[in-house]
Amino acid sequence: MDKKVLAIYYTQSGQMGDIINSFTAPIARAGATVEKVQVKPVQEYKFPWKGNHFFSVMPDCVLSVPTALQPFELKEKSYDLVILGYQPWFLSPSIPSNSIVNSPEFKAVLKDTPVITISAGRNMWLNAYDRIRKSLKDAGGKLVGNIALVDKHSNPISFITIFYWMLTGKKERYLNIFPKPGVSDEDIKDTSVFGEIVARHLAANEWDGLQQELLDKKAVVVKYPLMFIEGKAKIIFAAWAKFIAKRKNKAPWISAFKYYLFVALFLGAPVLLTLDAIFIKPFSAKRIRAKKQNYLQVI
Ligand SMILES: Cc1cc2nc3c(=O)[nH]c(=O)nc-3n(C[C@H](O)[C@H](O)[C@H](O)COP(=O)(O)O)c2cc1C
Repeated sequence: MDKKVLAIYYTQSGQMGDIINSFTAPIARAGATVEKVQVKPVQEYKFPWKGNHFFSVMPDCVLSVPTALQPFELKEKSYDLVILGYQPWFLSPSIPSNSIVNSPEFKAVLKDTPVITISAGRNMWLNAYDRIRKSLKDAGGKLVGNIALVDKHSNPISFITIFYWMLTGKKERYLNIFPKPGVSDEDIKDTSVFGEIVARHLAANEWDGLQQELLDKKAVVVKYPLMFIEGKAKIIFAAWAKFIAKRKNKAPWISAFKYYLFVALFLGAPVLLTLDAIFIKPFSAKRIRAKKQNYLQVI
């Protein structure tokens, strides 16, 4: 097939690079030319992270403050399909991903072009997706598919293991007791199944029905408790971000946010979920279904 595909992404650990390779392999095998572009910021975010530096990027993530990117050149003026690989940071698009979406080079190839987004986070990606989706649409892109990869272990377990990974750089089992952090090797490999579906749609240049086919293969799963926690947390994060951004000496407030996060996750979230399960959720089935549907769809 004589089609041109751009797969553009940012990654620190290489996880998103592995995902893009696996996902685009069947598309390339089907004969399309796949141009992969890994974008890097001018001022790299050090990986592994140092404790407080990790939390210090929160305000810029939440407030969508972009960073300068190293120059990148796209070979074509237009593409038949654009694939954007991104990751959530603090319930927002990561700063480099937000910077890609706002870069003139990327915007120039978006207009009227089918776009597929693929995210790989811990498990809270809904708000980041909402924001990426809006930015892409504002720039004239046509979102035709979305894939949301997550760490499928429980919320407290993945919270512990991701810190081990982020602070050591080792995507390994912490103490040999905890499971491996991040998106599992199997799920990364299996993104080729999504790639095969996309290759068929690309060959036919027909995008209707793509997202439903991806959903049938569990490319996106929305879990109510996580949707509930993220819905509350994004409002609180926004308040923290605005507050910290205005402070001259941010360090103590970043520390305070860090402790808040641990307390909120391990104490606040279970309490709120219990209250919700008793007083609100039983009477909100229709609203919950509509909300879930919003995150499953590309429109
Ligand atoms: C600063 C920071 C904040 C993060 N916040 C979230 C988050 O809010 N939700 C989530 O699901 N994952 C979060 N993650 C995990 C990332 O989405 C991602 O899975 C991980 O950083 C690996 O991505 P990579 O391809 O850049 O290595 C965060 C990671 C970092 C570094």
